Amino acid sequence: MNAAADILASRLGERKPGIAIVLGSGLGPLADEVENPVRIPYGDLPGFPVSGVSGHAGEVVAGTLGGRSVLLLAGRAHYYEHGDAAVMRPVLETLAPLGIDRLILTNAAGSLREDMPPGSVMLVTDHINFSGANPLVGERSEQRFVGLTEAYDAGLCHAIEASARATGTPLTKGVYMWFSGPSFETPAEIRMARIMGADAVGMSTVPEVILARFLGLRVAACSVVTNLGAGMTGSELSHEETKEMAPIGGARLATILKRALAEELFS
Ligand code: HPA
Repeated sequence: MNAAADILASRLGERKPGIAIVLGSGLGPLADEVENPVRIPYGDLPGFPVSGVSGHAGEVVAGTLGGRSVLLLAGRAHYYEHGDAAVMRPVLETLAPLGIDRLILTNAAGSLREDMPPGSVMLVTDHINFSGANPLVGERSEQRFVGLTEAYDAGLCHAIEASARATGTPLTKGVYMWFSGPSFETPAEIRMARIMGADAVGMSTVPEVILARFLGLRVAACSVVTNLGAGMTGSELSHEETKEMAPIGGARLATILKRALAEELFS
């Protein structure tokens, strides 16, 4: 085991989560719903990034949610903070040694579709890496040639869809396109992204999906829509808008995830 996984294992005690959830913008409140929680700041875990983005804390919260043992990663580091697409690798590398084989990623995103307005939740079915970066650059093992044909796990995606239906929560499926950020896209880039087949744009998640597949974790991802893409409305985009709007879709996505956990759909 690596040092961070060792520390986590001892702090988790009797808790044996099989699934981890990365909490993006808007999902933070989910951490407060965990029962019998243990909270471990990223700063206590060697290699874990300490994120400076407002609205992103940095701690592991483990306990039960919907009656199931889970490990929440509250706070993620982004490529645009560090210039390192593998910044989340030390975090994801602790999961398998703890017995976690499934990972759900969440994020805030800009929508490219008028029929998927702010407040919507999108199940990511595929992605386009438009950043030019890849977290496996420099990796030496042959496993670096990781296949992404079925990157998003069919079973986990079905679980999210089933839970959305059961809770009456609208859910749209779509393709997420990763831009490096931190500047938002231009209207021309948004038009390009639509032509290229994207449904949403964002600044995270794709490197974590690549790393998760590299590490043998089953993975799914959901976006909460905070805005329409640049140029689709008359107004300028801002991080304030992201923070203000994320809790709306975030609450919907939390409902979906809690039901899926409670019903043991993530098997
Ligand atoms: N673009 C990129 N990332 C985002 C957006 C956006 O419009 N909204 C929230 N995260």
